[in-house]
Amino acid sequence: GTVVLAYSGGLDTSCILVWLKEQGYDVIAFLANIGQDEDFEAARKKAEKLGAKKVFIEDLRSEFVEDFIWPAVQANAVYEDRYLLGTAVARPCIGRSQVVIARREGAQFVSHGATGKGNDQIRFELTCYALYPEVKIIAPWRVPEFYNRFKGRIDLMDYAQKHGISVPVTPQAPWSMDANLMHISYESGILENPKSNAPADLYLMTKNPEESPNTPDVLEIEFSNGVPVKVTNVKESTSKDSPLDIFSYLNEIGGKHGVGRIDIVENRFIGMKSRGIYETPGGTILFQAHLDIETFTMDKEVRRIKQGLGIKFAELVYNGFWYSPECDFVRHCIDKSQENVEGKVQLSVFKGQVYIMGRESPKSLYNEELVSMDVQGDYDPCDASGFIRINAVRLREHHRLQGLSSVK
Ligand code: ARG
Ligand code: SIN
Repeated sequence: GTVVLAYSGGLDTSCILVWLKEQGYDVIAFLANIGQDEDFEAARKKAEKLGAKKVFIEDLRSEFVEDFIWPAVQANAVYEDRYLLGTAVARPCIGRSQVVIARREGAQFVSHGATGKGNDQIRFELTCYALYPEVKIIAPWRVPEFYNRFKGRIDLMDYAQKHGISVPVTPQAPWSMDANLMHISYESGILENPKSNAPADLYLMTKNPEESPNTPDVLEIEFSNGVPVKVTNVKESTSKDSPLDIFSYLNEIGGKHGVGRIDIVENRFIGMKSRGIYETPGGTILFQAHLDIETFTMDKEVRRIKQGLGIKFAELVYNGFWYSPECDFVRHCIDKSQENVEGKVQLSVFKGQVYIMGRESPKSLYNEELVSMDVQGDYDPCDASGFIRINAVRLREHHRLQGLSSVK
């Protein structure tokens, strides 16, 4: 049979490619460009040399931003209060394209290099099953003949040497990375001890805030339907207005000022805790800006419901259920909530932080006259007396029953 392998060009998936061939499969290598720093042509040559029947390299950067990052921005998606889901949103993007190729090429199998302990295997495979129900999945890291043969990097290197797979001459970083346009994650290796600090030279997207510029960049981000449509650097009067350009520019500015670094222990879907370090420069700026324009333009009670949906959305995406009826439903509701989320937010980016400076919107629900301490507006202060007394009914009853004994 024919198998479409999600190929990265690295040691693991190169060995998997050759191993799949050894098992008798025709291998099609699929390399998704989602903004990682990679020599794609060199990777193509490598896959061809290793015996891939065909190699497809696809530039998915724009669709990654528009179809996956933007919904996460609209949702204010955060997992366990900190993680902005940079890897989790990329998996359904890659899986979607891989399945298109598999169907088009008449391949019955798909394969990937995710381990048997992580989240990525789940995200990847749920995507494939949802979009190609008849597909058969080969996950070598869960196949005993594979994992008993390759017990560590040494075994992979040995195999590579024997099969003419070029091994990087520069020593590999002692941790595992996953890089895309939205973030880079670092885990495993020397980072597995949750107490040990990340080395200073680990971060590739962001500058150390201690060494970042001493003058801020001031940005104006314009939103429509809860997604950014324009970003302007106020002092430089330059602007970007395509999704990919906007997001890349926010990465550049966020990276320059050291924005969006986190070091966390999180709960994997599988049930174990893992330690991860992430840098999400542009995503962090957008998160703050979107939160601000959303609160400015959204009804209070709608916002409360939407906030709960955002938490649900983050959990679904983390667990790999991007393509599921429940995620579809949640996204639909979140989309509806964004109708009036438009306007401009001004902010400054400085020393690892995002400082909101001001906002304006044609859909603002903010009524300056209503809230003013200097103007009465369409509001009768006497009404507040009754409002407070009605709210006090329950409190007074509670006190009547409990007496002063309940007061600490
Ligand atoms: N722990 C993060 C997540 O579950 C990052 C996973 C990184 N994946 C990788 N193949 N290195 O989303
Ligand atoms: C992996 O196990 O392949 C990476 C980590 C994860 O998927 O959570």
